[in-house]
Amino acid sequence: GKRTFTMIKPDAVEAGNVGGILEQITASGFRIVALKMTQMTTADAEEFYAVHNERPFFGELVEFMTRGPIVSAVLEKDNAVDDFRALIGATNPEDAAEGTIRKKYAKSVGENAVHGSDSDENAQIEAGFHFSGREMF
Ligand code: GTP
Ligand code: MG
Repeated sequence: GKRTFTMIKPDAVEAGNVGGILEQITASGFRIVALKMTQMTTADAEEFYAVHNERPFFGELVEFMTRGPIVSAVLEKDNAVDDFRALIGATNPEDAAEGTIRKKYAKSVGENAVHGSDSDENAQIEAGFHFSGREMF
């Protein structure tokens, strides 16, 4: 697959890390084909993370993802989904490899700076959730 979807989460936007994260993404060979800053509503976050709605942290996750703006993007590169997951590192920054975006910028397993799609199918669904056809280039 050639495309993946990402969000720079509210913790990283609040901390002033948008520029640093986008720089690392593009320096790693990803081309930005869609980009914007928005704030998710509660309904948006509940729908986006519906797969986790039985998890004990679901309420906390929705609170977190709606508390401030995010920067969402669609990224293009060969093997985009897997290569981007490698670039961001493990969900919990304590387990993330040195040099990964989460190792550098994430505070905790909950406030972990960035999202990356976990499959080609979800990348397409998630990009379509955040961007219209006219916003993807
Ligand atoms: P995403 O790229 O954001 O989907 O992260 P992931 O694929 O590495 O993890 P997963 O899909 O399993 O979880 C989605 C998000 O839920 C995580 O990125 C965290 O923000 C949050 N999350 C996961 N586990 C926990 C947890 O134990 N506590 C809290 N508070 N949040 C969690
Ligand atoms: Mg996930």
